[in-house]
Amino acid sequence: MDAKELLRRYIEQRRELGESELVLDSLNVEDVLRVIGAAGASRPSRAARAAQAASPTVREFDPADTRDWRTSLRDAGVNVDTPITAATPPVDVSPKPEPPAITTTDDMAFKKGIVVASDEADLIPDTILKLRSLDEIAEKVKKCRRCPLYETATNAVPGEGDPHAELVCVGEAPGAKEDETGRPFVGQAGQLLTKILAAIDMTREQVFICNVLKHRPPGNRNPQPEEVEACSPYLIRQLELIKPKVIVAFGTFAAQTLLQTKTPLGQLRGLVHRYHGIPLIVTYHPAALLRNPAWKRPTWEDVKLARRILDSAPRS
Ligand code: URA
Repeated sequence: MDAKELLRRYIEQRRELGESELVLDSLNVEDVLRVIGAAGASRPSRAARAAQAASPTVREFDPADTRDWRTSLRDAGVNVDTPITAATPPVDVSPKPEPPAITTTDDMAFKKGIVVASDEADLIPDTILKLRSLDEIAEKVKKCRRCPLYETATNAVPGEGDPHAELVCVGEAPGAKEDETGRPFVGQAGQLLTKILAAIDMTREQVFICNVLKHRPPGNRNPQPEEVEACSPYLIRQLELIKPKVIVAFGTFAAQTLLQTKTPLGQLRGLVHRYHGIPLIVTYHPAALLRNPAWKRPTWEDVKLARRILDSAPRS
């Protein structure tokens, strides 16, 4: 098979997984398919058309149609049936059964979850414990010198959204765009987060969005344990004040920090954990989805679980 044909199949696969943008160039998926002369390039898939008719905002997050690209890849000699387990996390290409419906708090599978010890408050300095509103926290964060990250950052990124939000989204740390604007999740990953929220009928304004770290680590390097220790009291206080119905941890870092565990993300997904009694769902970070669109489907399942909790649970 020639390279052009392989490229066509690859791009079609990405389109079937719900992508309409390519990260590394200015063309979108349809443009590329037109350039390489793929048949039906301007025609969206059946699933995409159905999703678009139902709601344009969920179009890029419809994971339903997975048939044709897998057949194409099999024809091209690619093994799509054996899960990849080596260094990379498994790519889930098979449809999964729906998670069990949740109707009451008693029904929730909390037994499987991790209960976080409640002695963290002792680690929170009095000055942060005494902050009485999200605005007060934001002011404090802007002046924070508890770790050296403020020296290299342009702006602090305390978080934003509804102070009474039922859903709180927690990410890792601000990136370049967030550092530039002082707002969380406003870059490319943030745009995807907005679409993920739209897929469960939520807007950014209805939720609260924040990160474990409130200042950008230089060059987007991984947060250091001392930085997390210094910064996490702000997050703890934010969650204490908001008391959401559900928390979604986006990515390994947010999940492991909130749950105080080293367990890999793959094993944390699909369970309802608890953070001080509040249901907590773990899912992939939107930046990871940009690199691997096959994770969109499991992410969609995770956020649907969060949505079901929102629709059913009284506030803890
Ligand atoms: N990644 C994050 O974890 N948080 C942001 O705010 C932006 C990108």
